[in-house]
Amino acid sequence: MTTDELEKLLAEQPVSRLHRLAHGRVYRHFRLGKRRLIETLLRCTPEQRSGLESDLQALIQEESGTQQPARERQKPAISRTGRSEWSPAKPASPVEPEPAESPADLTAFLEGIGVPEPKPFVPDAWQEEALEALAVTDVVVSVPTGSGKTYVAIEATKRAIEAEETVIYTSPLKALSNTKFTEFSRLFGADQVGILTGDRRDNAQAPLLIMTTEILRNLLYDAAGGEIDVRLDTLGLVIMDESQYIADPERGVVWEETIVFCPTQARLLLLSASIGNPQDIADWLTSIRPTPCHLIRHHRRSVPLRAGYLHPSGKLTPLFRSVGIPRAPHSPLHPEAKRLFAQYEEETLRPGSR
Ligand SMILES: Nc1ncnc2c1ncn2[C@@H]1O[C@H](COP(=O)(O)OP(=O)(O)OP(=O)(O)O)[C@@H](O)[C@H]1O
Ligand SMILES: [Mg+2]
Repeated sequence: MTTDELEKLLAEQPVSRLHRLAHGRVYRHFRLGKRRLIETLLRCTPEQRSGLESDLQALIQEESGTQQPARERQKPAISRTGRSEWSPAKPASPVEPEPAESPADLTAFLEGIGVPEPKPFVPDAWQEEALEALAVTDVVVSVPTGSGKTYVAIEATKRAIEAEETVIYTSPLKALSNTKFTEFSRLFGADQVGILTGDRRDNAQAPLLIMTTEILRNLLYDAAGGEIDVRLDTLGLVIMDESQYIADPERGVVWEETIVFCPTQARLLLLSASIGNPQDIADWLTSIRPTPCHLIRHHRRSVPLRAGYLHPSGKLTPLFRSVGIPRAPHSPLHPEAKRLFAQYEEETLRPGSR
């Protein structure tokens, strides 16, 4: 059989048959869509090819009712490293059966999404703790996304402005800086807020300055050389939002230098939802700053995450068999999501459509 003939034959098979064929030959094939599965199977060596072809014929006959068992033989397998290996013979019979198709329960999946009932605002205990600690020392806040880190930033800013201190709020992105500038101008009044990014410079003498971290680092460099452009002499609080950027291979050094050069009279507030080792960061701050850094860390999600798969046709299905995102690394995908994904690959990766 030529490669083209084999490819055509494979393309005619249902994806479940291809998965059976891939078993022992292709590492983690259950994650592959039909087109990629075929491409991977076609990459087998010439020695493996005959085993593949005869297994395919046996599967076709077996599943079409002839019930002829697949021949017992040594069959070549593609290892995880892509090298050819010989694996012990295995019958082609029920291997890794496809789970029974259960309809996607979208009602359960979407339940609870919407605008919550208005309630009086009560700060969480960790928010109070952060603000209390910030009165005397640096604070690292590492809590899940949507937990309310902005409240801590705003309250701490209010308190600093009341004490006639300058506050600098940094973000890694110009777009986020612009958003915060608009948000904080509305909250504190336009005359109280300034912005300094690569593109904008407004109200640079305001008590609350929004800037990208790179701009603050440059200001601190200049200040170290005796050149003071903004109100650094009265700096009381530096908020570094999205501070997980400290781990960025290219930009992380900017966060490090900003922390190292941050005036000792100012308190640092590092906010992040995704620092893996916040204790290490807090320990490092403690080692280079005048006061011991206080760490706030928890993993409770105020807004539970749910993962779905949206096919371009508009069909939505839960991505996993559970409504939430499972913690296990290789959690089973919802059969409907698998089917839609395979359909998507079939539609988009058909030879000639790329
Ligand atoms: N104590 C609280 N009780 C109820 N809602 C709160 C509380 N604190 C904050 N929120 C609300 O939670 C939502 C998310 O808050 P916020 O944007 O500050 O999250 P975040 O921790 O900064 O998330 P991200 O990591 O995405 O930046 C906001 O609508 C905010 O008003
Ligand atoms: Mg935030």
